[in-house]
Parts: sequence; structure tokens; C-alpha cells
Amino acid sequence: MKKILEVKDLCKTYVVNKHQNNVLKNVNLAVAEGELIAVMGPSGSGKSTLLYTVSGMDGMTSGEVRFKGQSIAALKGDQLADLRLDEMGFIFQQMYMLKNLTILDNIILPAVSSKKNTASRKEKQERGLALMKKLGIGELADNDINEVSGGQLQRACIARSMVNSPSMIFADEPTGALNRTSSEEVTDELIRLNSEGTTILLVTHDSHVAAKCDRVLYIVDGCIKDEITLGKYPGPSALRDRERTLNNWLMDLGW
Ligand SMILES: Nc1ncnc2c1ncn2[C@@H]1O[C@H](COP(=O)(O)OP(=O)(O)O)[C@@H](O)[C@H]1O
Ligand SMILES: [Mg+2]
Repeated sequence: MKKILEVKDLCKTYVVNKHQNNVLKNVNLAVAEGELIAVMGPSGSGKSTLLYTVSGMDGMTSGEVRFKGQSIAALKGDQLADLRLDEMGFIFQQMYMLKNLTILDNIILPAVSSKKNTASRKEKQERGLALMKKLGIGELADNDINEVSGGQLQRACIARSMVNSPSMIFADEPTGALNRTSSEEVTDELIRLNSEGTTILLVTHDSHVAAKCDRVLYIVDGCIKDEITLGKYPGPSALRDRERTLNNWLMDLGW
């Protein structure tokens, strides 16, 4: 399988008050095109930092990250910003959206900001609306962000992450602020996007979410301690077995 992301000996050190905190320690990771990978591990183990450094949102201390063969450290600031805008989508636990824009205008913002996306504003709106419909929130296009539920807002964030048709989505606890039902809906939307070809790397604390992923990494203290391959999720009938396998593995790791 073709690699979309290759990470070699990635280290990230934060220095706070002259104290060095080695948050990522020689992380090696390869993500194949089309994979859906979950990252689990204790709080403070470096999961978010891993997501931010491999996507170029935050700089690395040493090592190498290649996205589609391109070393991201070799890119200038604006080239990296363009790469993120056009090739990557981001979803966070906190559903950051601008308060003074409607849901639809928030969703198309990455398309409006992209130099590569030459569609007209009307076409961008049509694309945004089509994504909203696909995610079951088409009727909320003109709503303000405080007029929708948490689950609806997170689906809007997924639509926004998709608007420039990225090759890869990075999601940091996308279901962390949602109730069980919304969490399942959002997870199933991510699985659907993945089945249509988008590679996804997602951080989660929830074994129900991770059990639907192809592969799960377990990070402890800045190192990938272990990983388990579950394969493509074939549907609900396989869920219980996958959850059992995953939970046994997690228990052995001290989760
Ligand atoms: N911007 C930052 N500046 C300094 N330290 C940070 C920063 N971001 C994260 N850290 C530290 O890095 C460690 C890992 O954090 P994080 O990646 O957020 O963990 P996780 O997502 O696994 O909970 C923590 O000790 C945290 O305090
Ligand atoms: Mg985190």
C-alpha cells in the first residue's frame, strides 16, 4: 500500500521555565493511504502533540515527517499552510467555529481561504451545502452556531474538514464532548468518509470508537508502546468481537 504519511524518529520537546519536557521520543509511524487509525493512551502521553506535529500545525524538535513523500520541514510557512488547507482536514473536541458566521459560511471558510480552490463562491456554497446534506444537517445551513446541538455542530465541523476534499483528516477526540448517540453518529460519518477513500488519524479515549478503526496505536510517555490491527470494520455484527479483542489488549497495556 502507498504511504501517505511517514514519520521517522520524531521528537518533540517543550521547554517551559527552562525545564525540558520530552513529549515525543523517537516516534516511528507509517500510515497507508485509506487507513483509519486510532491513537489511544493515558492523558498527557503526547497524543495531541503527535497529531499536531505530524500535520505540521506545530513544529518538531527533530526527526522527519513526510506527507505524500514531501518533507514538511522543507516547506516554508506559507507553503505548509497551503498544504494543510488543501490536503488536510482538522476536527477538534472543541468545535471551533466563528460566531458571526452562519454554519454554512463557517463550513466553506477553508474553501474561500484556499488559493488552489478556484471554484466560484456560489460553487463553494453548493459544495458546502451538499456536504451538509450528506451529513444529515442540510436544514441548518443558515443557522448560527449557537442554534444547533453539539452533535450537529461536530457534523458541521466534519463538513468543514472535508470542504477542500483533503487526502487526510486529523481528528483530536472528535467525539470527546458528545453523548453516546451523537458520538456513534459522528464516528459512523468518519467511517463512511474513510470508506470513500479519506485517510483518517484520530485520537480517542473511547474504545467503542477505536473498535471501528483499522489499527489502534497505544502511546505511553511519548512512545508508541504497542499497536493492534483489527482490519476494516465490516459492520455492527463484528463490533462485539472487536471490542472484546481491543479491551483485552488495552487491559494488558494497563489502560
Ligand atoms: N504548547 C505546549 N507547551 C508546553 N507543553 C505542552 C504544550 N502542549 C502540550 N504540552 C505538554 O506535553 C505533554 C503531552 O500533552 P498532549 O500531547 O496534549 O497529551 P495528550 O493529548 O495525550 O493528553 C503534556 O505534559 C503537556 O503538558
Ligand atoms: Mg489531547
